[in-house]
Amino acid sequence: MEHPLLPSHSVHGPDAAWPIVFVHGFPFTRHQWDAQVAALQAQYRIITYDMRGHGPAPTGDGPLMIEFLVDDLVALLDHLELEQATICGLSMGGYVALRMIDRHPDRVHGLVLCDTRAEADSNEARIKRAEGIRAIRADGMAALANNLLPVLFGKQAVSSNEPGVQFIRKQIEETRPEGACQALAAMACRLDLSERLASIETPTLIVVGAEDALTPPEDSRRMRDAIPGARLVEIPGAGHVSNVARPDEFNEALLQFLRELNEEDSPGRVAEGARA
Ligand code: MLT
Repeated sequence: MEHPLLPSHSVHGPDAAWPIVFVHGFPFTRHQWDAQVAALQAQYRIITYDMRGHGPAPTGDGPLMIEFLVDDLVALLDHLELEQATICGLSMGGYVALRMIDRHPDRVHGLVLCDTRAEADSNEARIKRAEGIRAIRADGMAALANNLLPVLFGKQAVSSNEPGVQFIRKQIEETRPEGACQALAAMACRLDLSERLASIETPTLIVVGAEDALTPPEDSRRMRDAIPGARLVEIPGAGHVSNVARPDEFNEALLQFLRELNEEDSPGRVAEGARA
């Protein structure tokens, strides 16, 4: 059994620029971040990847936990010989980013938490995950997409943002049923990290869609209040996938954070030996 699994990934932008690793949400793929790659790649080194079981990525053997997704992320940084990177995760990607900084604070130069939360699932949420697994097994990913898209975008936006909805639908349908079921189980048993937020010393940006129904702005405000010095940007008119619904506003917030984060440092934290 191979562990960790080095994720299949894409690298854009200049080699010596500051690295940013984007971690997608459930059940999307690295393409969730296409609008951020386009906007940032002239100035930053952008790494996107498919988490286990998402898109064409293999599921790996046996049960999945957020812990193993963190192991895969560390394997990716090691493979790219990056001592540190800014980690930007949305929703499930945010659960991975939060556990990453908890376990490996020295590997995270800046933290961006989008449409996510620090708390673990409630009992009710865990029961819903089980219902989701049953539904995927019975009806497949297209049915999941039909149910999920109005929740992700908001009912009104589903009819007014057809390109964004189709873009996310394609990613959901590319994800294997088994990969999605494993991810649901992993999210159901994730840790509650809310008590750990106060110990984060890394500069942190939190972004949330003002109409996010899955991880509502209150969750982000609690994180903002708990993480020392964290900044929160709420994006009007965006639901749960704020980077796709309102890419311009999202990119503006991200770029401003990255400029401030990196202006005092020299570019590219590359592991010893990687420059040779
Ligand atoms: C996601 O977008 O990654 C998921 O909706 C997160 C979750 O279900 O908790």
